[in-house]
Amino acid sequence: MSDRTPRPRRTWARAGTRTRRRIAGFVALGVALLAVGGIYAVAQPTPQVAASQDTALVREGQTLFDNSCITCHGSNLQGVVGRGPSLIGVGQASVYFQVSTGRMPLKVQGAQAERGKSEFDPAQIDALGAYIQANGGGPTVPAATDEELIGSDLGRGGELFRLNCAQCHNFTGRGGALSSGKFAPVLDPANPHQIYAAMLSGPGNMPTFADSQLTPEEKRDVIGYIKSVGSGGDSVGVNPGGNGLGGFGPVPEGLVAFFVGLAALIGISLWIGSRQ
Ligand code: HEC
Ligand code: HEC
Repeated sequence: MSDRTPRPRRTWARAGTRTRRRIAGFVALGVALLAVGGIYAVAQPTPQVAASQDTALVREGQTLFDNSCITCHGSNLQGVVGRGPSLIGVGQASVYFQVSTGRMPLKVQGAQAERGKSEFDPAQIDALGAYIQANGGGPTVPAATDEELIGSDLGRGGELFRLNCAQCHNFTGRGGALSSGKFAPVLDPANPHQIYAAMLSGPGNMPTFADSQLTPEEKRDVIGYIKSVGSGGDSVGVNPGGNGLGGFGPVPEGLVAFFVGLAALIGISLWIGSRQ
């Protein structure tokens, strides 16, 4: 018995150590988890990054604006008499349209700003848009790919185009002259985002088509129609050929050439006949 007594004591002692080790293990695990959680919470700054990216974009836009636009549109976007209109409330859509089509910064004061090569890359155009959007709001072009802005209901698109756009841009988007040296341009070079932005912002003498007049779906179908009759533009679409006669195709063009030639031959024979 006397040599058995220490055994349970030793077992108890061993059991105690095991329990203590286990508790210590749990505590260590808990501390480690808390530490990881804490580090994660501190090192995971997603919302702050999003916010500061936005302010950075607006600040970059302001720098670009101060360098290239301020002389005509004023230091607070209020406009400069005789040089350029106020940009308060025109929105990102108008800025995207004017700058991506190279109309702005304006080079020559004429009847109407003309399309040209843009001086800014897409990131800079975004920044300019963000700056003007942040000061007065206004319409914005949806964030979508070119393909997503091309509607598939060409019947409805064509109908809406004939009702709302054809009187100025011609039935197949070939464009046409307006009064006082102004003109509705050919729509081929415009990409889907630019067509969308033109409808939202109504540049120059063009009316504005707010979403209450033409819903976003209807705008997409109009774009689908323009792209189906045009030659594609900056980024998408295929040239169906037969340009120059309203895009009706090579057969009518050949027919026209045939009749013009025939008329010329008849004219010449009549003239020869009359001289005899
Ligand atoms: C030389 C003067 C001049 C400069 C520089 C200039 N603009 Fe303009 N801007 C004009 C004029 C004039 C109009 C009106 C043009 C028209 O309606 O055809 C205009 C129109 C606009 C519009 C359309 C406003 C509306 O009512 O929808 C926007 C947007 C615009 N400018 C942005 C810019 C930006 C951005 C820059 C700099 C990158 C810039 N402009 C540089 C003179 C200028
Ligand atoms: C009252 C005549 C008029 C009507 C109606 C009209 N536009 Fe325009 N459109 C214009 C004029 C003028 C311009 C050129 C504005 C400028 O450069 O300042 C223009 C420019 C455009 C451009 C820019 C093309 C380019 O050079 O990049 C597009 C795209 C466009 N219009 C689409 C449309 C669509 C789509 C409709 C119908 C929903 C429409 N327009 C209705 C007169 C009109």
